[in-house]
Amino acid sequence: MELVTEDNITDLAVQRWQTAHDPRTAEVMTALVRHLHDFAREVRLTEAEWIAAVQWLNRTGQISSEKREEFILASDVLGLSMLVVQMNHRLDPAATPATVLGPFHIPGSPELGFGGDMSDGLTGVPLYVHGHVRDLAGAPVPDARLDVWQADDEGLYESQHPAVDEARLRGIYRTRDDGSYCVRTIAPRGYSIPMDGPVGDLVSGTDISHFRPAHVHFLLDVPGFEPLITHLFQEGAEYLDSDVVFGTKQELVVRFEQREPGPTPDGGSSDVPWAEARYDFVLQPRG
Ligand code: BEZ
Ligand code: FE
Repeated sequence: MELVTEDNITDLAVQRWQTAHDPRTAEVMTALVRHLHDFAREVRLTEAEWIAAVQWLNRTGQISSEKREEFILASDVLGLSMLVVQMNHRLDPAATPATVLGPFHIPGSPELGFGGDMSDGLTGVPLYVHGHVRDLAGAPVPDARLDVWQADDEGLYESQHPAVDEARLRGIYRTRDDGSYCVRTIAPRGYSIPMDGPVGDLVSGTDISHFRPAHVHFLLDVPGFEPLITHLFQEGAEYLDSDVVFGTKQELVVRFEQREPGPTPDGGSSDVPWAEARYDFVLQPRG
């Protein structure tokens, strides 16, 4: 029998996890064991710290639900989500860059027409986000599906309003034959990530800003192209340089032009001042 010591425990654990039936699981798990052991050695992890970490993970699981994704949030604030996005979406420099999905996407949003209002009945400055969806050669992509979602003017998403059971600030849009799309919404505001859970407990013990700059989320899943998960950020917004989830990219910062009452990009008209953001999404062919 080989006795377990501080010196051989890592090799023994690696050998066990090498027996995983799936080769990729074996690769991932053995690397995880090595890095976890190295980490514990490097910081000389105490038993009290180890149990505190286990309890933090427990709380993270306990607070998570269909409507709350605390583990995604943890991954986001550690920069892990954005690292995984960057490694897996090395797109052509001309293509629209990808960013994090975040914890607030809800599938199955209602289908809205060109210029359909996803902010139905909510107060805020009307915002039209419009432009085209194109391929790398500049050709329009017709019938592209854009899944769009955002926070309200208090910085809260639908899933953070427990009493709301209809779609709120989210919708599915499709491009017309010329690749054009038009989203009618309200201007988003910067907001704090949820700070009332274990992630907030950790972050509040640091000088990390817990805010995100004002943005609208987009998910484009179009046959023949790489799926694109991204956001558009408002030029000049607060927190662009300190986004708590590392999601901002210069290419995704767009000007929100302030417009006087009058004709709007959907062919209608606004009685009140409104804002206009123009952006062309460029999709990379599926490789
Ligand atoms: C979001 O933009 O919805 C988001 C992304 C990551 C963490 C928290 C919120
Ligand atoms: Fe968001």
